[in-house]
Amino acid sequence: MAQHEAQAYKDNGSPEEQSRRKFLANATLGVGGIMGLVLAVPLVGSLIPESLVDPAKSAGGVWADLPKSQFDKVAIKSPPVKITFNFKYADGYFPPSSDEQFVWGIKLSDQQAEAYKKLRPDLYAGASKIGYPAVVESFVIFSSICPHLGCRFNWVGDQSKFICPCHGSEFTPEGVKVAGPSPRGLDPLPFREQSGQAQVTWIQYKSGTPDRIIVSYS
Ligand code: FES
Repeated sequence: MAQHEAQAYKDNGSPEEQSRRKFLANATLGVGGIMGLVLAVPLVGSLIPESLVDPAKSAGGVWADLPKSQFDKVAIKSPPVKITFNFKYADGYFPPSSDEQFVWGIKLSDQQAEAYKKLRPDLYAGASKIGYPAVVESFVIFSSICPHLGCRFNWVGDQSKFICPCHGSEFTPEGVKVAGPSPRGLDPLPFREQSGQAQVTWIQYKSGTPDRIIVSYS
């Protein structure tokens, strides 16, 4: 009896049965793979800011208006302008919400705009590269978050620098790091003008790394 059971256990079945089993195994793997893809594609897609995929779209509060009264002060040769704005955002699991942030705006001359790639090579190549134009219509809009450990830096007019109060990182008006522990220069944000309205996408990059890694966005 025990020998019969052992033989039955070892019996691989007829060629038809083997082929049926193989088909069922492949079909299970195939269905599992498709279900994985169905779940993964929207998840990965949801991690990419829509504005970076299609600059014309602004769904989900991705593009936020910069108040005209503040943005209009951004001019060539003027000190950087602090611009406070609100944006709405939607998290799939919570009701729509809003937040207030501020950015720093500068406007470059034509020569400065042309030279910006040489001045800020970190924005155009390697792991610190950004996936959108740093200069749009001669404007650069900086995140207000210090790339070192996330404090808010200020513009110090008598030194013509951005200076972070936490650990003393210093940056030129164009965002080049010139002193302190920050591992990279300032982070420009996606910017556009739509029918005369300046808009920005709020992105938070990882602190303390030379690479630009998106942590969150509006
Ligand atoms: S957080 Fe800005 S220098 Fe440390």
